[in-house]
Amino acid sequence: MSDRYLDFTHSSFGKSLAGLLGLPSPPRLKRASAAWAGNVLEDRPVLVGAASGSQLAAPLLAALAGAGAPLRIVPELPGLGVIKTAAAELKLSLLGNPAAESGEARNHALLFDASGLSSPAQLRELYDFYQPQLRGIAGNGRILVVSRAPESREGVAGKTVSTALRGFIRSLAKEVGKNGSTANLLEVQAGADGALDAPLRFFLSEHSAFISGQVLTISPPAKKGPPLPGSLEGKVALVTGAARGIGAAIAATLAREGARVIGVDHPSAEGGLGETMAKLGGVGLALDVTAADAAERIVTEVSGNYGGLDVIVHNAGVTRDKMLRNMPPHFWDLVLNINLNAILQINEGLLKNKGLREGARAVCISSIGGIGGNAGQTNYGATKAGVIGYVEAMAQTFAGQGGAINAVAPGFIETAMTAAMPLGPREIGRRINSLSQGGLPQDIAEAVAFFASPAADGVNGRTLRVCGQNFFGQ
Ligand SMILES: NC(=O)c1ccc[n+]([C@@H]2O[C@H](COP(=O)([O-])OP(=O)(O)OC[C@H]3O[C@@H](n4cnc5c(N)ncnc54)[C@H](O)[C@@H]3O)[C@@H](O)[C@H]2O)c1
Repeated sequence: MSDRYLDFTHSSFGKSLAGLLGLPSPPRLKRASAAWAGNVLEDRPVLVGAASGSQLAAPLLAALAGAGAPLRIVPELPGLGVIKTAAAELKLSLLGNPAAESGEARNHALLFDASGLSSPAQLRELYDFYQPQLRGIAGNGRILVVSRAPESREGVAGKTVSTALRGFIRSLAKEVGKNGSTANLLEVQAGADGALDAPLRFFLSEHSAFISGQVLTISPPAKKGPPLPGSLEGKVALVTGAARGIGAAIAATLAREGARVIGVDHPSAEGGLGETMAKLGGVGLALDVTAADAAERIVTEVSGNYGGLDVIVHNAGVTRDKMLRNMPPHFWDLVLNINLNAILQINEGLLKNKGLREGARAVCISSIGGIGGNAGQTNYGATKAGVIGYVEAMAQTFAGQGGAINAVAPGFIETAMTAAMPLGPREIGRRINSLSQGGLPQDIAEAVAFFASPAADGVNGRTLRVCGQNFFGQ
């Protein structure tokens, strides 16, 4: 479903009228149009800064340079010593930060290594880095703070400062969304410094266009993964609910990255599933995910033909909204069975019957409805919150075989599900976020593909909201 208001405010007449009447004008987001590229940050200058005593400069600079980013610095700031030392060791050149009027490309990203912050007073270094640069950031720019996770910090002051960064990022994200820019925080646990490459490429590129105000924790990997570009090539991926909407976009994005895709959908959607799979060279499997033999049928399909799955995406989901006092039991049962029970049962069957190959990664679709709660969605909210607990609880099991399990929590996404909402709630739903618009199925698919990749080796048991920083349920 298209966003007519956004299209209107980007027409020449609409732009003038919105300006005249002081109406908000949602930015047009730049989204990725191709597979993960090696040089995804080529010609995209990244201004790098660090707090004094920071420890992550070397892996950060190596990842940025590997992705082709020109590296800029502001010479007079404290903490620059660690960046200069790391750059010298890596034989990287650092460029100056050009004046706005110089005509040179604006900074695409402002990246600050906050791992050295050790007292509230030192947070001033964060202010000193960002405050003068915000007016000069490019449209659809990226703000990224990388820090030590609070649980990996010694002492009260360290933990306090680490947590302070969350409030900083969530607030800044609300300030910069107007030009399509995003702000996010990566929290790196001790021992996970080598797992920054893929998250950095993802969060600084157009693959994360609708993710803002989020915190993602990076843990020491169960197994070192390959670089992100090409990492899904030849992998076997199964996506449930793949006939349409978000599931179809996930299937297409995994195929774009080179995966062989098996799309599952309910037998009533078999026609649509066939059409979707034909477009991307995938295989369709008509199956009710709640069927008692669902896992068995998947194992039969994949073990003979592919020797097991590398990726499983649990996307099939439904709503049956009613206030709890009016909710019939079949509404409760249907939503619980499809959105939650089926995920547990299918994974259990796959794990037990060798349906998953070593290193397999699972991605479950949650919802911000499971984080903030919604009147009329006790059934749906329970399932989507349950998914968050489930991926946390299963992280060790998946890590035990070199893989991982994570969840993506979409906000308002333009699909048949949201097109069915009444006009008023729909219009409110799509505007109440920092980017003033609904996301597209592709936005969810990009996050799923990132989690599905063995390159995201330090991400396990996490839930990432892809919601444009929806103001709901924070
Ligand atoms: N659209 C949004 O704004 C939004 C927001 C948050 C979360 N989500 C979640 O994203 C996922 C996809 O949502 P969507 O908007 O694309 O929905 P959709 O209704 O367009 O697609 C869901 C797909 O799941 C399939 N499905 C339903 N029951 C099934 C069953 N028993 N067995 C097999 N397949 C079944 C449907 O046939 C359909 O193709 C869902 O889990 C949903 O809860 C969506």
